[in-house]
Amino acid sequence: MTDDPSTPTPIISPSPNRRSFLQLLTASSVTVGGVIVVWPFINSLNSQNTTLEQNFVDIDISSLKAGQQITVTWQGHPVFILNRPAEALQALQDSNLVSRLRDPDSKELQQPSYTQNWHRSIRPETAVLIGSCTHLGCVPTLKLGAKLGSFYNCACHGSRFDLAGRVYKSVPAPYNLPIPPYTYLKPNIIRIGENPKGQEFDFTKIKQL
Ligand code: FES
Repeated sequence: MTDDPSTPTPIISPSPNRRSFLQLLTASSVTVGGVIVVWPFINSLNSQNTTLEQNFVDIDISSLKAGQQITVTWQGHPVFILNRPAEALQALQDSNLVSRLRDPDSKELQQPSYTQNWHRSIRPETAVLIGSCTHLGCVPTLKLGAKLGSFYNCACHGSRFDLAGRVYKSVPAPYNLPIPPYTYLKPNIIRIGENPKGQEFDFTKIKQL
């Protein structure tokens, strides 16, 4: 990724050799409970003022470029929104990766039925994941590498998830990362906390947070 004057300056600057695929935190317009607020930067959960009472959060992802991720809070949970580039989508379908996953087909109820697919999302390029390890709830970190080298790492006890939030075998975490109910209000506006029209999903019924 080259420097782009239109791109907001991140609070935490990425190292130059990894700028194409990092957790950059971009400016976003966010609607919380129906009230539009401007979110200058979503850097940490502490920087947000969402509360447990707010049922939905609207996120403008128009400035989220390939390889970038933002973290927002919904119902007290960190939510990763990652723009997965083409190479990451290819990796998700690689048999070498799939064979190392505990629940590659998302059979456990950890996501809405409308995201029960190989990319675990409504649109392949945009992942929406609860960023809470299903072992004991630590927040995994996005680690980036070539081909199959990208994953979410939970530093607490070594659990690992792919970029669709699917848990690897032989790690402490038993389940894939949960996916919240969400829908697209517009092509670039995601509402977290609401299902698409005609769809149902009760987040409280998932196997494990
Ligand atoms: S909390 Fe993530 S591995 Fe234990």
